[in-house]
Parts: sequence; structure tokens; C-alpha cells
Amino acid sequence: MIRLLIIVVCFVCAIGVPLKAEVVHVETQNTSLIFQIGKNKKVYQFHYGSHIGNLTGIDKMNSIFNEVYPSFGNGESNEVALMVTHADGTMATDLYYNSHSQEVAEGIQSTVIRLKDDKLDLFVNLHFKAYMREDVIEQWVVVENNERNTIALQQVASSALGFKAESYYLTHFNGSHSHEMRLTEERLVNGVKSIETKRGVRTTEYDNPSFMLSLKEKAAEDNGEVIAGALAWSGNYKLAFEVDDQERCQMITGINPFASTYHLEKGEMFKTPRMITSYSANGKNQASVNLHRWARKYNLRDGDKIRPIVLNSWEGAYFSFDAKRLKEMMDGAAEMGVEIFVLDDGWFGNKYPRNNARAGLGDWQVNKKKLPKGIDDLIDYAESKGMQFGIWVEPEMVNPKSELAEKHPEWIVQRMNDRKKLLERNQLLLDLSNPKVQDFVFGVVDDILTNHPRVSYIKWDANRHLENFGSTYLSNERQSHLWIDYAKGLESVFARLKEKYPEVIMQACASGGGRVEYDALQYTHEFWASDNTDPYERLLIQWGTNHFYPAIATAAHVTKSPNHQTGRQTSLKFRFDVAMAGRLGMELRPDDLEKEQVKFAKAAIEKYKEIRPIIQFGDLYRLLSPYDADGYAAINYVSADKSDVILMVYSHKHHRRVERNVVRLQGLDRDANYLIEEINNDGRSHISVNKQLVSGGLLMDRGLKVNLRKPLQSAVFQLKKVN
Ligand code: DGJ
Repeated sequence: MIRLLIIVVCFVCAIGVPLKAEVVHVETQNTSLIFQIGKNKKVYQFHYGSHIGNLTGIDKMNSIFNEVYPSFGNGESNEVALMVTHADGTMATDLYYNSHSQEVAEGIQSTVIRLKDDKLDLFVNLHFKAYMREDVIEQWVVVENNERNTIALQQVASSALGFKAESYYLTHFNGSHSHEMRLTEERLVNGVKSIETKRGVRTTEYDNPSFMLSLKEKAAEDNGEVIAGALAWSGNYKLAFEVDDQERCQMITGINPFASTYHLEKGEMFKTPRMITSYSANGKNQASVNLHRWARKYNLRDGDKIRPIVLNSWEGAYFSFDAKRLKEMMDGAAEMGVEIFVLDDGWFGNKYPRNNARAGLGDWQVNKKKLPKGIDDLIDYAESKGMQFGIWVEPEMVNPKSELAEKHPEWIVQRMNDRKKLLERNQLLLDLSNPKVQDFVFGVVDDILTNHPRVSYIKWDANRHLENFGSTYLSNERQSHLWIDYAKGLESVFARLKEKYPEVIMQACASGGGRVEYDALQYTHEFWASDNTDPYERLLIQWGTNHFYPAIATAAHVTKSPNHQTGRQTSLKFRFDVAMAGRLGMELRPDDLEKEQVKFAKAAIEKYKEIRPIIQFGDLYRLLSPYDADGYAAINYVSADKSDVILMVYSHKHHRRVERNVVRLQGLDRDANYLIEEINNDGRSHISVNKQLVSGGLLMDRGLKVNLRKPLQSAVFQLKKVN
């Protein structure tokens, strides 16, 4: 439905003219973000929470508490959103209302509040995009330098929101390589809590730029006030929460200002990354559902297209393969019903062959020894088996032992003055602040896709941080731009590729989950959530991930047992049941599977193809947390019309008794009857009502008793609404 209505367009000069509009109401179906323009012409945040339709009396209330965009030097002593060294060297900034505009089109309300410094021609435009049906608000800021000369931005946040509550609990997702997105919940006490990174690249590995802030009490899945937030930025970020002794929480989020002073010439503008928030009065799960719906519709690349099933060569072959081995893998993959074969690392480099992680990175020519007939031979073979073909690249990086490093040492991010280059995984980073390097990096993928137009999937990896801080491209005065310009350079390469190759599927990978954020997800279809493919560990990682990022974007692969990372042994069923909760794929040598296992895998893949619209497009409900001591985990997915449901239940401990193992489903039609059937099993059922009709009300209020007693067991159920 196209809804086009200009609500208010109001440009009011702040100086000398009476203000026509004193309230700016950013609103979605169920939430309101309300700003007031004070008599002093400063703009304050009045409310972010449930929708308030009737604002009568707002002008007489005095619950205003924080400036909409606090700036350094205006008397504010808490965390600030903006710090500028002006053209004349002064550091104080004092922002006043200048004008605002608002319009609604196609379910999106767009608002701009324009602020101006009291004395200098510095303008700050606050942008708000309210996705009305999804209850999501996107914010960003554009700073305009109309001063007489260059200014230096010391800090420029994407958003500054304030809250007032008796207490605050912050849920965030930290970790490390193979240990990403571990849920941590803590009470905020007076002072500043900050979630941040200074690693420049692979920035989401140790903490994700996302959080859930619950007000008054700990966040529950189905009740309580929660603000979910995610920053769309692949560079350094900082999400700061300052709680004061008046029980106020000031939240400043955006690019990490650490060592990142950014110069803006006269007439230039600076646009911050987007901060995405969703307020829920009904607990965390509603906020996740809001974000998932929003992401599939407005952010994620092709969020409305079914994702194919992948077999990736990495854990099955690592660097040791030739065309024969790959073709054998393709035979097995095709037999099981896989749709895309993806050749991972190790296919390139001749002078310095990429036979391990020590050489060849940067030399993107097919290795003639391993693959004498080239890529097209592999594509032909994949296609003859009814599959598509994809390939791995890591174009931002270079091994010192490579032709590229010999040819272009100046393209490498380096600490200058001939300082030692710090290696990570034996590799260095290319300087994406340099447009020539951007062209090269774009060219790596462009060449593959023009020379082999049938390549339909690119896995884009990045396996180090940016620690060798320094650029031979940036001028001496602009060295502090590196972190920001790197992220912008990467984004522009991604944008060019998306534009030129709209049909090619892209996966964002950075040593696993090092690039899981909503900026990359505008240009990519999915992310590799972790190098840790142990299904038990994946329960924890995927549980964290799904707080913000939808299942359709979460690549989850079935790998070999014992698991290569943890050594844990699990059944093939358990591995499938965990991987089917996301975008299912496999990552093993099919020959390693026994006949019976191939049969199981084939049936599971066939089933996944049938149910994937529910998993990839449905709403996800978290029912039992793998982080709880009970030793269970459960989720269910519900299609938009509530007709189709998938329930997944896992046990990861030994349970002497099963009394507590009751799973209450969510999101169903209470009055409808559902036919329940256990799937992915050998015919034995873990419930008493298999193939029976049960009402939505009973399933949600009384729940299903699922008989899983042993660790690393699982059960999956398909429920269909019957009229
Ligand atoms: C790290 C990735 O996370 C893995 O999946 C694999 O692609 C390796 N890099 C290859 O070097």
C-alpha cells in the first residue's frame, strides 16, 4: 500500500521568529520518540517509549531531561555526542534549533531536525527514519561545515538517546574468535559502561555493535521495557551508557572517536553511520522480531529471496585439494541435494602458491598445479551435477610472501618510519583509504565475475585487524582518518559490486563472525557466524546472533564429528537440527559420511527445502535459553499468517527427570488447531501428541512436553494450522 502524505514541512528560523512547532514527534505504530523545542530554542528529548497519540499538555510538563545532541563546551559534563575544533580554534559548540521537516511515504516517516551552532556556521542535521509497521527507528547525523575554514571533528555520534528508570540492565554480546556473540547481561551502575572496539577491521569479533537495554528490571523475552540497538558500521564503534545519580541513562552511540579526528573542509559534510533502534514494551523477543522484519524488508540484501543450500570446501579439504578431490566432493554434495558448491581458500597463487596461510594472499590467479583446467572446469562440473558454483576471496589482505606485496608495498597499511610490520595470520592489510587500492580490491571480484560469469556466490573473508596504524596515501595531517576512511572505502567497494552484480550472493566472513553488522548486511546476503561449527557451541552463538540478525542471514553448516574446533562428538541429527535453525549448509567431505548418514542428510536437506520459507521469512521466538542452567534450548518460527510453525528443541545436559522439559510455544493463533509432526527423525517420537491436533492456546499456555533426557539430543517439529 502506498501511503503518501506530507504531514508537516516546517522551516522556521530560530533567531527572532516565534516557533510554530514546539514538538517533533517521530512515531511508529507502537512507539514514540518525542522532542521538544524549549523556550531557549534548544531541542530536548522528551520521550522514547510506547506510542503516545494524544500530546495535550506536553508543553506544561517539565520532565525534559537531555539535549537531543549534547555537544562539548555547552555546559554538559556527561558523555557528549559532538566535539568539534572549529575553524578559529575554539572548541565549544552550542547547538540551537534551526528548522525541521517531516514527511511520510510508504510506511516510513522521515524527519530532519536541523541545529546550528550559536556563533559559527556549523550545522548539524539529525535524521530519523521511522519504519512505522516494524517499530524500528533509524538515526544518523550529517554535519555541515559552513565555517570559514577546515574544522576537526573529534567526535560525532550517530545517536544520543536518554532514559529515566529505577535501574538499567544491559545485554550485550561479546566473545572472541570461535566464541562470538556470547550473551552477557549486567546491571548498569553509576558511571560509564562502554561497548567498543579499536581494531579497525574484523570489528564484531570481540563484541558486537548491538545491545538490549532493559529498563527497571532484567530483560525477559516476553515482558518488560527493552530498547534494542544496532550500529550499522564496519569500523571502530563505541556504544556508551552513562548512568548518573538521578537515575538517568545517557546513551551515545556511533563511530569510536578514539584516535579518529576527522578534518572537514569548508563546504564539506560528514555523514555518520546509521544507528538502528527498536523499543518494545513486551520484552526482548518482540524487539528481535521487529528488527528481523525490518532487516528482511529494508536492510538485508535480497531479504525476500530464499537462500540456497551450500557445501563449502573449507573443513572438508582446507588447503589440500585438486580438481579431482573437489569433484568428488561435488558428487557427494549433489547426491545430498546441495544447491551451491563453494570453493574456499587455497585455489590461487603460482609463484607463491596458496598451500597454507603463509603465502599467496593477494595473487588472485588460479593455481595451475592444483587446478590445471581452471575455474570453468569446476563450474562445468558443478552445473553438470545441477549445482551452482561459488568461490572464496580475501581481497583486503596480502601475505608478505606474495607478488602483490612485492609489487605494491605502498598499498599496505603500515606504521611508517620503517617500523616492523605486525603480522596476524601471516598477513597484512591493504589500505582501503586509497582509491587505487579500492579499485584493486573491487577488481579482484570484478575479474572473477567477468571472467567466470557463472560464479553465483562470493565468500568475502577478512582475517586480521588494523593494528599497523598508518597510511602512505593519507597526508600527515589526515593520518587520523585511517580507521574511518578504511571503513568508507570498504563500503564503496561493496556498493560497486552490488550495483554491478545484483544477482551474485555475497557472504560476509571475517575469521567467522568478525563482520556481523547492518552496514555490511546492506551489501551481503548472509554472514558466517563463527568458525566454531560445534553444534553445542553454535546453539550459544546463534542464540546471541538472533537477538539482532535474522535466521535467513545466519550461515550455519553441518560439519564432521568429532568437531574440528572442540573435538566434541555429536550425532548427524543434532548437527542438522542446529544448522537448520539458520541458512543451512554443509562443510565436510561427503565421502566421510557413512551410507546411512548420507541417507539421513538427503532427507534432512529435502525437508529443509520444504520448510525454509518458515525459517528464513518467519518470526523467530526464543523459548528456552541455552544459557540457562536447565540444559535445554528451544526456539520456534512462525509464518506471517501463523499457519506454519517449526519448533526446535535441544538438550545439552543429562536430565534425570523430564518434568521441567515443557516448551511453551509463542506467536501461534490461539484459536486454531495445529497438526504436529516430528521431523528429521527415525520415526520415533519425543512427544505424546505426534501427528495429533492440538490448539494454539494449549501449545502456548500449557506447552509441549518433549522427552529429551540425554545431552546433545534434539527434536524438531513441524506444525500446520488445520481449518
Ligand atoms: C577464515 C574463515 O572464517 C573460514 O571459514 C575459512 O574461509 C578460512 N578463513 C580460510 O582461510
